[in-house]
Amino acid sequence: MSGIYIHIPYCKQSCYYCNFHFSTSTKNKAKVVEAMLKELYIKSQNYNDIVETIYFGGGTPSFLETEEINCLTEAVFNNFKTASNLEITLEANPDDLTIKKLKELSKSKINRLSIGVQSFNDHDLKIMNRAHNSKDANRCVKNAKKYFDNLSIDLIYGMPESTLESWEHNLDLAVSYNTNHISSYALTIEPKTALEKYVEKGLVKLLDEEIVFKQYKLMLRRLSNENYINYELSSFAKDGYFSKNNTAYWLRKNYIGIGPSAHSFDGISRSWNISNNNLYLKAIEENKMYYKTEKLTKTDQYNEYVMTGLRTIWGISLDFLKDNFGTKYQNHFVEKSKKYIYSKHLILKNNVIKTTIEGKFLADGIASELFIVKLNI
Ligand SMILES: C[S@@+](CC[C@H](N)C(=O)[O-])C[C@H]1O[C@@H](n2cnc3c(N)ncnc32)[C@H](O)[C@@H]1O
Ligand code: SF4
Repeated sequence: MSGIYIHIPYCKQSCYYCNFHFSTSTKNKAKVVEAMLKELYIKSQNYNDIVETIYFGGGTPSFLETEEINCLTEAVFNNFKTASNLEITLEANPDDLTIKKLKELSKSKINRLSIGVQSFNDHDLKIMNRAHNSKDANRCVKNAKKYFDNLSIDLIYGMPESTLESWEHNLDLAVSYNTNHISSYALTIEPKTALEKYVEKGLVKLLDEEIVFKQYKLMLRRLSNENYINYELSSFAKDGYFSKNNTAYWLRKNYIGIGPSAHSFDGISRSWNISNNNLYLKAIEENKMYYKTEKLTKTDQYNEYVMTGLRTIWGISLDFLKDNFGTKYQNHFVEKSKKYIYSKHLILKNNVIKTTIEGKFLADGIASELFIVKLNI
């Protein structure tokens, strides 16, 4: 199984919290799409894996003309072997999802939409500098349900000035649409964002960690009551609707990344494309190098397995550790994890270690304690 991730590096406006790669200048958009078609062709050469998922992420994929999205999808079909039940997801922003756009997309090969709602609350949306308001968010999810069965919505909790009550209202609205997938992320303050500057200058005050944790626990309870399975820290799905793209990523399957800043993984190495639209374009046009590659060491692979294992429903298998990394790595993990089992942040069952509800919220911090930083074992 493998996946193709296509990064669309354009957005209408900059959200204050976001440091993903995007540009608000669309001067070379058509040429960049051409370059991405060429990259798809290059990467398809001698590639024999069957593609089971295509994911248009961004940036803002819904910002592209439907025709451009169709060209990229067709290029995958024309150049790669594809599974018959291919999942093709498009990230879409509420302000782009007009009825006209939804109609066009429903006639395309896209069969799953991931809508960037972020919040149904106008005050949150203003603090985020989103291009839509709560009315747009509600209208677009309602309309999208008429055209797509397979829908996900993105939310962000832990917003400055939010409360447990405002978050509960957000969750109430989210579950009322009964989409089969919800991704809900804790707000992170990313380097070089407007939000980071506002926090530094004291113009925005971060929410107390304790309230964020309460919002997180409320979310777990509320979504579990509605039969959502929390299969990864931030991902909730009804049975049978785990995102194929994200699952492939967490289960360390191969994937090909297309477009500026996109990452790829072939089981041994990770590569990342240039995070600059014009430099990417120039390099592809002139047949020059447009990505960097790093071969993962055994320790890198162990650390990645620990990180994703603690974040996901699949956990960390002690047998897998022994079979793939050897007894020394397994012993290191078992020794370091003892204190978290004792504190009930981790639980051991059937030789698999998973995070508890308390532990999941701290998964990344716990993972860093279980990592191997220097190979002296
Ligand atoms: C990079 S966006 C791309 C999708 C689309 N452009 C949008 O804005 O909905 C993917 C998701 O990452 C999440 N995200 C981005 N930056 C974040 C941050 N600093 N904290 C928490 N979530 C973030 C948002 O929920 C967003 O929907
Ligand atoms: S959150 Fe989405 S729309 Fe906002 S800047 Fe980031 S990629 Fe663009």
